[in-house]
Amino acid sequence: MRSMLITGGAGFIGANFVHYWLAHHPQDRVVVLDALTYAGNHASLRSLEVRDTFRFVHGNIRDQQLVERLLREERLDTIVHFAAESHVDRSILGPDAFIETNILGTHALLKAARQVWLEAGGSMPHHRFHHVSTDEVYGSLGIGGQSFTEITPYSPNSPYAASKAASDHLVRAYRQTYGLNTTLSNCSNNYGPYQFPEKLIPLCIINLLKQEPLPIYGDGKNIRDWLHVADHCRGIELILENGKPGCSYNIGGNNERTNLQVVSALCAIMDELNPEFAPHQRLVKFVTDRPGHDRRYAINSRKITSELGYRPTHEFMIGLRETIEWYINNKSWWQPILSGEYKDWMKLQYGEG
Ligand code: NAD
Ligand code: TYD
Repeated sequence: MRSMLITGGAGFIGANFVHYWLAHHPQDRVVVLDALTYAGNHASLRSLEVRDTFRFVHGNIRDQQLVERLLREERLDTIVHFAAESHVDRSILGPDAFIETNILGTHALLKAARQVWLEAGGSMPHHRFHHVSTDEVYGSLGIGGQSFTEITPYSPNSPYAASKAASDHLVRAYRQTYGLNTTLSNCSNNYGPYQFPEKLIPLCIINLLKQEPLPIYGDGKNIRDWLHVADHCRGIELILENGKPGCSYNIGGNNERTNLQVVSALCAIMDELNPEFAPHQRLVKFVTDRPGHDRRYAINSRKITSELGYRPTHEFMIGLRETIEWYINNKSWWQPILSGEYKDWMKLQYGEG
């Protein structure tokens, strides 16, 4: 049995992971630490609050004393670290929060883990610090370039990617220098339920439901390797169970698509679900490109596949349809998000109308 601290558990992947973990490991203790930034949504975890194995703590990963207290008080042996500022466009307009949370926050967590697990008499010999990272640390691939492996040199291009790269290096250093039992995963773009509607797929789903424009940056030919969030959660589970300490693992979907293909697929599904508004493709609007926009990401998952038996199981078109249906059936989750800060962000990023 494990006792886990899940940072960023009220965010998109963290919330999916907490649901996944408690469904598959109902005996385990799960403590979520989340600052509830604009991207965190307590409602994503509400159905778990009846469980006595679950606890939500509203707090910041930069608060080292709080993290140390939680590790001691709950005798936590595992940290799965999702908390981050995660949106590239926001990192372009305001990088400071990315440095503070992704670099300093990760460092505060590492210091707390070292203090409690290694220094206080070595009281937790069987511990694990799993750091959740991104393929964006590897930079941009050309068409036909070899997909990212675990030994591809880091070459981050956005402040977001640079801050994640820095946090990955800190995790590695704490393993090499202090012997902290760490693992790391670098994953491709996720989609699925509970995703804040600023990223491409949920933004387009919400705009399709509101009959509003679908903004496509540049020529729409940038490529991402899309993975259903449940497959990402399974990959992390395999690493926690059998991953080698000190190792990093790439997790991908083997599912490269241009942004235009992704948005066209969403439109085609919406045409079936909502034929009275077809064709939804008419809502596509090409807008000014993102500065420094990485052309292509693609993950080579051979290591996690051969070492740990990882295999993504969600077919993309089925996963997309289920995701659209989730947003249709969970309006009470996303409608409250659309006012206030979100409105301001949309205006800043996309301009009026
Ligand atoms: P998200 O933006 O949806 O959620 C981030 C969560 O972290 C939110 O709940 C937020 O409140 C919380 N948080 C932010 N700053 C905090 C702080 N200082 N202290 C405590 N909590 C804080 O992010 P996501 O998409 O779920 O991504 C989770 C992790 O996975 C990130 O580390 C991201 O880099 C990585 N990742 C994401 C993707 C993707 O496609 N979304 C792909 C690969 C890797
Ligand atoms: P995003 O979901 O922001 O993820 P990331 O930048 O981490 O890959 O963007 C996915 C792709 O979609 C990326 O190439 C940028 C593009 N994009 C648009 O074309 N329009 C949009 O409104 C957004 C948010 C993204």
